[in-house]
Amino acid sequence: MGNGLFKRTMKIDSNNNSKIKYKLLSWYDKNNYTFPWRSSTNPYHVFLSEVMLQQTQVKTALPYYLNWLRRFPKISDVSKASNDEILKQWEGLGYYSRARNFHKAASIISKKYNNCIPKNFDDFIALPGVGEYIAGAVLSIAYNKSLPAVDANAVRVISRLEMNNIPYPKSIKSISNSILKYISKKRPGDFNQSIMDLGREICKSKNPKCNLCPIASHCKSYINNCVDKYPIKLKKQQKKHINMALGIIIHNNKILISKRHENGLLGGLWEFLSAEINKGESANECIIRKYKKGLNIQVEPYVFIKKVDHEYSHFSLSLDAYFCNYISGDPKNIDCEDWMWIKPKNIKLYPFPKVNHKFFDEIETEIKC
Ligand code: ADE
Repeated sequence: MGNGLFKRTMKIDSNNNSKIKYKLLSWYDKNNYTFPWRSSTNPYHVFLSEVMLQQTQVKTALPYYLNWLRRFPKISDVSKASNDEILKQWEGLGYYSRARNFHKAASIISKKYNNCIPKNFDDFIALPGVGEYIAGAVLSIAYNKSLPAVDANAVRVISRLEMNNIPYPKSIKSISNSILKYISKKRPGDFNQSIMDLGREICKSKNPKCNLCPIASHCKSYINNCVDKYPIKLKKQQKKHINMALGIIIHNNKILISKRHENGLLGGLWEFLSAEINKGESANECIIRKYKKGLNIQVEPYVFIKKVDHEYSHFSLSLDAYFCNYISGDPKNIDCEDWMWIKPKNIKLYPFPKVNHKFFDEIETEIKC
């Protein structure tokens, strides 16, 4: 390409990029989705909201965000809280490693940064649980840094806009580079949030509302009538289904609860022990085996409570739950972090996985009887 033609092409591209930026920002201004985290640029509020919103829909995260700030108005309140308090506040929101990491990050921010969220990218991204997305979102919204925030919405919007043929998640780097071409240097946080809003409200995975899209005239996949092909995804693995049995041990009007190890799924939460039922094993045998292995005690299931189904992001499960008698042995935390006998009325003081909540009413009735 001759030098003149090259310069002209660059100019057309740059004009086009500016148009996309202006159209997105004026659409954002007009629609004005007023979420509580948008009425503040307090970096702690922005950090919290982005962590909560990372794998969770706005309407689900909203009450958690408000309750959290009532309980922990300042980041120093987070750093001073116990693990149980943090997880209790997060209870039901899922992906609990987010809460554990946020707790650790708050404590580093208190000790090392005098309760100020670091402005520097390298310092901020080094905090537990902070990846490229959180760093880009928080630093652009709270500190006006021109950084991209590539979440699932951004991947969808930009993949469709440019007909990006790299399968997700490999496409993240190129989506990130694309956003940098359009991003507003004056309002990077608003720009990133305009893409989030567009992805949530207009450029939806199913039934996108292209007729309402402010950038439809620039959208390559819309022009080529292939919006539904983007973003390109690698084939999803089938969700695994697991059959499990769960035992609730009752003894002297108390129930036995145990704490899961810190790392891993539902880490740090309290629960009733459960395990996958082996081939040829009954639910009763499974519960007896699990309590022997996990707490070194003998128990005996005496009544079936109910069967419960539950969905996690990568697998689904069915749980056969039983009330059990305690038979013998002093509990020892062999395969759990901690254990204790509690009065059923105190059960709500501790953080439990959602699926365990499905038995709280039955426990109350059983102990009353
Ligand atoms: N999803 C992730 N971050 C968000 C934000 N700041 N506003 C709306 N939705 C979001």
